[in-house]
Amino acid sequence: MPIAIKHLTHTYMPGTPFETRALFDVSLSIRDGEFVGVIGHTGSGKSTLIAHLNALIRPEPGRVIVSGVDVGQKGQSLIEIRREVGLVFQYPEYQLFEETVEKDVGYGPRNLGLPDAEVKVRVAEALSQVGIPEELSGKSPFELSGGQKRRVAIAGVLAMRPSTLVLDEPVAGLDPAGREELLKLIQDIHKGGVTVIMVTHSMDDAARLCGRLIVLNRGEVAFDAPPAEVFRHGDELVEMGLDVPECVKLVKRLNECGFHLPDNLFRMEDVERAILKEVRGC
Ligand SMILES: Nc1ncnc2c1ncn2[C@@H]1O[C@H](COP(=O)(O)OP(=O)(O)O)[C@@H](O)[C@H]1O
Ligand SMILES: [Mg+2]
Repeated sequence: MPIAIKHLTHTYMPGTPFETRALFDVSLSIRDGEFVGVIGHTGSGKSTLIAHLNALIRPEPGRVIVSGVDVGQKGQSLIEIRREVGLVFQYPEYQLFEETVEKDVGYGPRNLGLPDAEVKVRVAEALSQVGIPEELSGKSPFELSGGQKRRVAIAGVLAMRPSTLVLDEPVAGLDPAGREELLKLIQDIHKGGVTVIMVTHSMDDAARLCGRLIVLNRGEVAFDAPPAEVFRHGDELVEMGLDVPECVKLVKRLNECGFHLPDNLFRMEDVERAILKEVRGC
């Protein structure tokens, strides 16, 4: 499901005193199988951008084309698009509402009109994908821990078997262990062939996980490039209220102290290798 966004602008409450331009002339494309990070300061338009991807907001003006289908076209059915592009909101656990985990995860597939047996298979598959043991499926979602609730909410999106998964700050508010667990799970989903678009606040996660980063600044695309390229622009990122990964700072500091490390390292293991190479002279 390749996605193309062309000259997309979005203004909330136009023509009122509260008018806010959230996106301006955004053009970008997402290829199948990518793991794309969307980063930007609070208010830079990240959530507004991804809400367009599964047609929660209709493009106006501009175009969003999902697998050749123009989302904004009048009369265009949005069911197919929403099935293909699964959107996990920020704090998705707030949207759990059914009596049991099983019913909640099966809500989407049941709404598609799938037979009970198929819904059951999808629910079991989605719960296993997010590491929720079967014995929890009969429980109320409200009896689960925070991290488990979030994973159940993600399972509800996965049960639709989307070819693209869009996540808005999926690890916000989780403890370090919960974060790592969920990020690993997202990586596994990606390895399973799903295109992933992830909004994140963490430059370290963005550097570590994403093949490409889209940096939004005041509703415009400031950079759209692989992490190594983006993090070369440290000063500009800081001006946009962003940071660089810890290891980029470390390399800078070491070079100020006399090292000669390359300036395109953004993963700790690469930094370690470069330091050893320089120290040992090989
Ligand atoms: N529903 C809304 N109504 C009015 N303004 C909004 C709404 N949602 C977001 N905005 C405004 O649009 C801009 C972009 O917001 P958002 O897309 O939520 O950014 P981000 O996700 O990067 O924090 C901000 O100025 C925000 O205040
Ligand atoms: Mg947001």
